[in-house]
Amino acid sequence: MFEGPFSHSILKRAQEKGHVTIRLHNIRDWSTSKHKNVDDYPYGGGAGMVMMVEPVVKCIEELKAITAYDEVIYLSPDGELLNQRIANQLSTKQNLLVLCGHYKGIDERIRTHFITREISIGDYVLSGGELAAMVLADAIVRIIPGVLNDETSALSDSYQDNLLSPPAYTRPYDFRGLRVPDILLSGNDREIAKWKYEQSLERTKARRPGLLEEET
Ligand code: ADE
Repeated sequence: MFEGPFSHSILKRAQEKGHVTIRLHNIRDWSTSKHKNVDDYPYGGGAGMVMMVEPVVKCIEELKAITAYDEVIYLSPDGELLNQRIANQLSTKQNLLVLCGHYKGIDERIRTHFITREISIGDYVLSGGELAAMVLADAIVRIIPGVLNDETSALSDSYQDNLLSPPAYTRPYDFRGLRVPDILLSGNDREIAKWKYEQSLERTKARRPGLLEEET
């Protein structure tokens, strides 16, 4: 499941250039049962299976014996909502261990005793934490210095200053009568920067006014 996103484009280049190492582990490898089960029925009844404490903790402990982790992150819709500030903060860390939950959840003892941070990628429920882990990895890795070709491009992203990006245009100048704003062809860098800032601000006020009140 992780192979596609991790072996293309920016995530691929970041690994090839040595900016990041991504290791994948299969919890089933730590299963103690014959059929490699890692889930079981919930105590007290209810729908769905629960990921068992033993294989998950054994996996976490084995990895922690080799690597010192800054955070052990559990991806869950209950977690704090991922935003650019959190991605920036996590991109400065050395080692992160990310646990993808599945089924109806994971044994609460894992969360209380082994997880240091819970993160959600949005107020909706995915079928597992895997896609969320890939989203988190992409958001973190692309802002590691040197990963993007143009070093300034991550800094000028939408959200880096809690502003949405200004409109962008490329050739042709005139497409069926739809023209590029003339200011962008003026060659006046100061005026262009001012126009872009105003456009960003206007767009943010119109579409995401709440961003302007958030801390960066
Ligand atoms: N697992 C299931 N849904 C999720 C979400 N929205 N964010 C992170 N992990 C999840």
